[in-house]
Amino acid sequence: TDGVLVDRYGRVARDLRVSLTDKCNLRCTYCMPAEGLPWLAGSQLLSDDEIVRLVGIAVRQLGITEVRFTGGEPLIRPGLVDIVSAVAALEPRPRISVTTNGLGLERLAPALRAAGLDRVNVSLDTLDRARFTQLTRRDRHADVLAGLAGAVAAGLTPVKVNTVLIRGVNDDEAPALLRFALAHGYELRFIEQMPLDAQHGWDRTTMVTADEILAALAREFTLTPDPAERGAAPAETWLVDGGPARVGVIGSVTRPFCGDCDRTRLTADGQVRACLFATEESDLRGALRAGADDAELARRWRTAMWGKRAGHGIDDPTFLQPARPMSAIGG
Ligand code: GTP
Ligand code: 5AD
Ligand code: SF4
Repeated sequence: TDGVLVDRYGRVARDLRVSLTDKCNLRCTYCMPAEGLPWLAGSQLLSDDEIVRLVGIAVRQLGITEVRFTGGEPLIRPGLVDIVSAVAALEPRPRISVTTNGLGLERLAPALRAAGLDRVNVSLDTLDRARFTQLTRRDRHADVLAGLAGAVAAGLTPVKVNTVLIRGVNDDEAPALLRFALAHGYELRFIEQMPLDAQHGWDRTTMVTADEILAALAREFTLTPDPAERGAAPAETWLVDGGPARVGVIGSVTRPFCGDCDRTRLTADGQVRACLFATEESDLRGALRAGADDAELARRWRTAMWGKRAGHGIDDPTFLQPARPMSAIGG
């Protein structure tokens, strides 16, 4: 490593999130409209080889130790298994994970495991099929449940489940979702909704807060603070009924964790983002395709991260939602 990704506040990025596509096979109402979005063109997307080259630079020269593939929906990228194999062959080998909606995971889990994938996080907002269909605009609830089971069967553990509660839609389900996760051995995390939706319809008053989620859980479970070191994890975790099972809350809005952030992001079209909420991006794809060598790409990446903001600034009166939605950034 010639120089890590450090910013002006002294934070060091060790965790790289790579978006493999901006497309998705669900249409969650809090994420994108029914008709989808103007997707990136094929020529704008990094190729599999370009992705592996940039991840290699991150691992060998920039001190990245964790690589997470996201989307859109990363499982719809045809080259996913090959990309995972190539990243698993890098020295030093990073830990590799995927964040997915679970569709197709049952079928893909064994190949992903064999390729070197360590773990998966799967999104599931409801236990009710009709609600799932209403929320995601697709009747695929059973596929997600099968994907979760397939992930465990393939050894992609611990499997974490990500849940966004939406007021008036699924906000009565927190205890039931936790019972479900406990019964299956999944680690459940509730995520506060962030202003990153394509429709720009986020509203602080409809967001279900960490305090509300914890109060709902406390009616049925005894939660005690998890003694394990949190580090840079977005999720704050609690032991459930004495443990060892845990539940997490990712309180990005009401309990921000930006001061400990260790993330850098690469979009599917090859832009480095220093923060989920960054308004600037640094074009690595352009430099790469213009013939930049590894050292030059590493230098550009370091420069991009030096400019990382102190925090997301959602509470600032001047806050502006980033131009690209969650699905194009990689969550
Ligand atoms: P684990 O290491 O498995 O715990 O992963 P994770 O929770 O960091 O990743 P995951 O992809 O499952 O993300 C869960 C939620 O946390 C998503 O809604 C992400 O958008 C959110 N998240 C991930 N990283 C950040 C971050 O740097 N800042 C903020 N505000 N939210 C984040
Ligand atoms: N705020 C918080 N979480 C979101 N997700 C998608 N959009 C948002 C948002 N605006 C969630 C997905 C998935 C996880 C990766 O991010 O539901 O569980
Ligand atoms: Fe890091 Fe930005 Fe997320 Fe804060 S909002 S934790 S700085 S990526």
